[in-house]
Amino acid sequence: MGREKLLNALLREAEELTANEAFTVIAPYYDELMAEVPYSYWVDYIHKITKHLGHSFETVLDLACGTGNVAIEFAKRGYRVVGVDKSEAMIREAIRKAMMQPELKLEFYCQDISELLLPMKFDLAVCLFDSLNYIIEPEALKKAFKATYDVLKPKCYFIFDMNSEYALEANLFTQNNLDSDDRLKYLWISSYDSETKLCRVDMYFQLQLEEGKILRFKEVHYQRAYAVDEVIAYLSDVGFKCEHVFDAYTFKAPTRRSTRIYYVAKRL
Ligand SMILES: C[S@@+](CC[C@H](N)C(=O)[O-])C[C@H]1O[C@@H](n2cnc3c(N)ncnc32)[C@H](O)[C@@H]1O
Repeated sequence: MGREKLLNALLREAEELTANEAFTVIAPYYDELMAEVPYSYWVDYIHKITKHLGHSFETVLDLACGTGNVAIEFAKRGYRVVGVDKSEAMIREAIRKAMMQPELKLEFYCQDISELLLPMKFDLAVCLFDSLNYIIEPEALKKAFKATYDVLKPKCYFIFDMNSEYALEANLFTQNNLDSDDRLKYLWISSYDSETKLCRVDMYFQLQLEEGKILRFKEVHYQRAYAVDEVIAYLSDVGFKCEHVFDAYTFKAPTRRSTRIYYVAKRL
């Protein structure tokens, strides 16, 4: 199907498509969609940060782990890893992948970050790929920080990334792969409201199935922009000390045009 035809089909059907919740229908295809995401490089970066901090660790908690890509990457490096995510469909994928690699020390639980109930305490917690922007109520974000604080051992670290307000304002989520040969096509349209700091992304997908069949579906995602000072204040409200804020994948402070920001918080 040509680009114009595909675009029209997606948009024409858009109104009729059910607006599914985020990370439900897409879950079985999430890894296909994220095939180019450099998870291993992200875990290398976290290692560089922990090395810089002089923090050694054996256990890792991957918050909002999705289909488990970050968790699996840590587990492959010998760590004992627990992943949690509130989406049952995403956790199902993570468990399926873990079962195929029984040699890894990996467990997954379907839980909300703000209400963690875990059997152990951890040396390191991470939360990557703007997952915390999905917590759109500041009070819920504080609750998530408090729950994370409570499952970390003293003097241990919570390292996470967030999309910046600049990224959400610039509508960086408006993107598509309609010109690609991928069997999973997507068309994402985002709009940002500077009053509520909410970015709404309408995500349309088209999957080419076997025998010429086509599956079209839609998910609606909301992310909230949090200012750096706001995040640091929430962390300190629950007892963390935010030791570093980095422009992603560097050791430099973020600039006005940083799109992804890393926070390094220490549990006191
Ligand atoms: C962009 S995906 C990232 C997944 C994974 N971290 C990765 O790097 O592939 C965001 C994930 O955050 C999860 N999530 C959002 N809010 C959450 C919450 N309050 N508690 C647990 N998981 C949450 C979603 O279900 C989704 O799997």
